[in-house]
Amino acid sequence: MSERQGLGHRLSEHELSEIRMLIEERTGICFDESRERFFSTRVHEHLRAKGLSRGTDLLRAMRKSNVEYEALLERLLTQETSFFRYPGVYEAFEKRVLPELHVKKFWKNPRTLRIWSAGCSTGEEPYSIAITIADSLSFADSWNVEILATDIGRQALKHAEHAIYTGRSIAGVTERQLANHFSAVEGGQQVKPRLRKMVSFALMNLASPVYIGRMDGIFCMNVLIYFSEERRRALVQRFYETLEPGGYLFLGHSESISKMPVKFQAIVLNDCILYRKPIADELLKPELVTEGRA
Ligand SMILES: C[S@@+](CC[C@H](N)C(=O)[O-])C[C@H]1O[C@@H](n2cnc3c(N)ncnc32)[C@H](O)[C@@H]1O
Repeated sequence: MSERQGLGHRLSEHELSEIRMLIEERTGICFDESRERFFSTRVHEHLRAKGLSRGTDLLRAMRKSNVEYEALLERLLTQETSFFRYPGVYEAFEKRVLPELHVKKFWKNPRTLRIWSAGCSTGEEPYSIAITIADSLSFADSWNVEILATDIGRQALKHAEHAIYTGRSIAGVTERQLANHFSAVEGGQQVKPRLRKMVSFALMNLASPVYIGRMDGIFCMNVLIYFSEERRRALVQRFYETLEPGGYLFLGHSESISKMPVKFQAIVLNDCILYRKPIADELLKPELVTEGRA
């Protein structure tokens, strides 16, 4: 059996593959060839940090205890994010989606807008959504805005709840947004309570469906890329069922669902694609619509 030696601890290919399968089975996250090096380096780091000398000890500990399993999982998550990561997406949300939802829902009682940020990492995405709503939805304060932000990473969610950001993470925030929505605190800029009240964070594994009610919009950006094709399909189907008719799905730039058998209308707006769930009598319309500026 081939073994990789590293600073006194040993992991066989077989053990690495067992760990890989355990993580994929429970979370949907795949470590294919392109991410093999990342995976193996992180598992070795973890073994060293735990003071374990053998891969079998790690596997046994992970199978026995959820705490041990989560400790390794935390190391294997890719949580890169930032405020307004893709400006085009927020422009489309502001100029196309919010006006449409305003017309559709303004006279409803209660006047509720529900958005899900699935795979929200440290919170920059749901707070960017909240800023966009606060700044551009007409009579924003008269709406009951609920942004549900979920992730599988406990540490990331803790950071998100503290809502303190610095450096590259807030580089995309304008001076005006910074003045209106953040307060300078020790350690960086903290999102003000008015926005924080709009966002609820919850630990949620996208590979284990939980009922969360209907949504007007779902942001699931840069998450599906880590999943197998089969999981992606299942998740996109679930997003379709979760959306209200007329609701929108936002994916990351490299994530396409064009080959999946779901009935979203793909709307190309500048450099982004939005996926809209048709309302009943629109189901016969063309599925791809290309429009000009958002
Ligand atoms: C690269 S980050 C994307 C953050 C943000 N959506 C963005 O685009 O900036 C991917 C996030 O997906 C989360 N994630 C990965 N697998 C998950 C799963 N099975 N359930 C929930 N969240 C998951 C990771 O913890 C990580 O925070």
